[in-house]
Amino acid sequence: MNLKIETNNIETIKTEGLIFFVFEKEKPNEELAQIDKVLGGVISDVIRKGYFNGEKKEIRSIHTHGKVTSEQIILVGLGKKEPFDLENMRQCLALSLLFARENLLKKVTIVLPPANLNIIQDLGTVAIMSLYHFISYKTKDCDKIKKINEVSFYTKDKTNISKYKLLLNKAEIIAEAINWTRDLINHPSNFVTPNHLVLVAQKLSSKNLKVKSYGEKKLKKLGMGLILGVSRGSDEEAQLIQLDYQPKKYKETIVLVGKGITFDSGGISIKPSAKMNDMKMDMAGAGVVLGIMKLLKETKPEVRVIGLIPAAENMPSGKAIKPSDILVSASGQTVEIDDTDAEGRLILADALFYAQSFKPSAIIDLATLTGATLIVLGNEAASLIGNNHKLIERIKNSADRSGEKVWELPLWDEYKEMIKSEVADLNNTGKTRNAGVITAAAFLENFVGKFPWVHLDIAGTAMLEKPKDYNPNEYDYACRYCKR
Ligand code: BES
Ligand code: MN
Ligand code: ZN
Repeated sequence: MNLKIETNNIETIKTEGLIFFVFEKEKPNEELAQIDKVLGGVISDVIRKGYFNGEKKEIRSIHTHGKVTSEQIILVGLGKKEPFDLENMRQCLALSLLFARENLLKKVTIVLPPANLNIIQDLGTVAIMSLYHFISYKTKDCDKIKKINEVSFYTKDKTNISKYKLLLNKAEIIAEAINWTRDLINHPSNFVTPNHLVLVAQKLSSKNLKVKSYGEKKLKKLGMGLILGVSRGSDEEAQLIQLDYQPKKYKETIVLVGKGITFDSGGISIKPSAKMNDMKMDMAGAGVVLGIMKLLKETKPEVRVIGLIPAAENMPSGKAIKPSDILVSASGQTVEIDDTDAEGRLILADALFYAQSFKPSAIIDLATLTGATLIVLGNEAASLIGNNHKLIERIKNSADRSGEKVWELPLWDEYKEMIKSEVADLNNTGKTRNAGVITAAAFLENFVGKFPWVHLDIAGTAMLEKPKDYNPNEYDYACRYCKR
């Protein structure tokens, strides 16, 4: 979607809805006061009589009856003005856009609040994220889908137009990469196989992004017994995908590792059928890594980033690995399989060991690794565990800036004892459900050597129970004739 910037007279902008942010107990700002005057004071009336108070997430639309070009004025409440809360503003913007779409508007204009210039990038990103829907498989009634086709931002500040345009352009690139990633995760597993992930990666390849993939023959040569073990029950071939973004100038090399289980049935330790269908999203870590690589080649920052994706399908069959089997990892460490459903840590372990060969200054893995992370943090945050304080702080800071939540859990020696095996070097579970998020990370830690490493367990955040703010329901295509 193209985001536009408008600076012409607010009364004659060609739009169907003008969205205004209003703080609690705040008088209409300059632009709103101007519209209010043309409308004969209806907005100040509504506010004075208490029909709209600017409370957090309060929303109200007012019809203009042709007195200005825009057909509706949408007021969205932000709550208290101090302290300034960007995440709140993001959420309120999402709410107002979904409200406008529900009201069949196709073209809306957001009146920029007088704040730091740079928030236009955050708001632009959120606008495109909010209007995401997954309709790839709908073949009927497509014309009935409610859709906003154009979002613009209004400011009367004509002097900074080129800067605004640049920021909006960046917002578009970021948000499109996010929605592209969402699509990849939402597609089912008969479409997104390990081989499909290879094709997606190859499509991204360019001069500054080199892509390689290793099928099972090469994985055998690399001794990656854990990836091969997990994949053994599946008819799909396992893959290790490598994407290398290498700019001309860089001071730092970061390796990103994303769990790419394209479907997790649990294997022989099979999952209950209820909610098993959610496990099409078990490649969300891989999706995120692919989305980031796409973003890097488009935005060209001065840092080398290598994306590694171990990809496999976890299935039961006569060939599948069984509880009590012992596998040999690429690192040489042996692993006893206690539960074939603890497959994510296995494929990650071989990829993490391989990551060391790049001598990186940071290894970051993203994985829908444990149901336990949902028990600890619900859908609100990703669990963070690492071996390096500086890197942990870096990740926490960038999470703060993006409005995403991460929460650190400890990696004390006691947990490392819990994943030792009596017959092999390691066991793939902690044998009980206790500290499930941490024992999974304690397992991974054996494969990163001395390199700074952070593990993000995104099992709770990759898929939500219900739509939330700018994270809409994947199926919420808001058909006008649906009763919902
Ligand atoms: N992919 C699952 C984790 C998961 C669960 C992600 C729910 C998203 C939502 C993972 O492979 C898994 O099955 N983990 C097991 C580990 C256990 C057997 C030690 C789990 O969490 O139950
Ligand atoms: Mn599993
Ligand atoms: Zn899994």
